[in-house]
Amino acid sequence: MGFEEKVVLITGGSSGIGADAAIHLAKLGAKVSIVGRNAKRLEDVAKQIKIAGGSTPLEIVADVTKDAKRIVDETINHFGKLDVLLNNAGITNNGRIQDLKIKDFDHLFDINVRSVIILTQQCIPHLEKTKGNI
Ligand SMILES: NC(=O)c1ccc[n+]([C@@H]2O[C@H](COP(=O)([O-])OP(=O)(O)OC[C@H]3O[C@@H](n4cnc5c(N)ncnc54)[C@H](OP(=O)(O)O)[C@@H]3O)[C@@H](O)[C@H]2O)c1
Repeated sequence: MGFEEKVVLITGGSSGIGADAAIHLAKLGAKVSIVGRNAKRLEDVAKQIKIAGGSTPLEIVADVTKDAKRIVDETINHFGKLDVLLNNAGITNNGRIQDLKIKDFDHLFDINVRSVIILTQQCIPHLEKTKGNI
């Protein structure tokens, strides 16, 4: 499947699954926005995309719990449209429920659920224009 000229916004693009997806989709021709809080890791992924022959990604240093509007605005200002949103950023908490601090649960929920809703809401008007996908 070709992704030529498709613009893909990938949260958690600085590591793991999101980084691999960014590199893979860029190899297939996508223009990718990669989002994470760690600028150095985003830069490393951008280098790997370049080595793989993909077009230069947009690196957005941002926190999905705070910066949803800026993430979408920067992507649209840079690429002019959005075709795919990949809601991938997330954290895990492997402790026992009896040890779980509610502030840690709130933090996990904020990243893994609340921010996904807010970012998706911000993206929908742009995805409707391109008949895009989430
Ligand atoms: N690997 C698995 O077996 C597995 C299984 C089930 C579900 N998942 C889910 O799949 C997703 C990716 O997993 P992974 O294994 O690739 O995890 P990972 O290597 O820890 O990557 C997580 C990514 O999320 C980003 N992130 C976390 N909090 C963020 C925030 N507040 N704002 C912006 N970015 C944030 C991190 O970027 P920064 O650190 O740069 O902010 C990083 O790029 C996660 O949502 C994870 O919960 C993974």
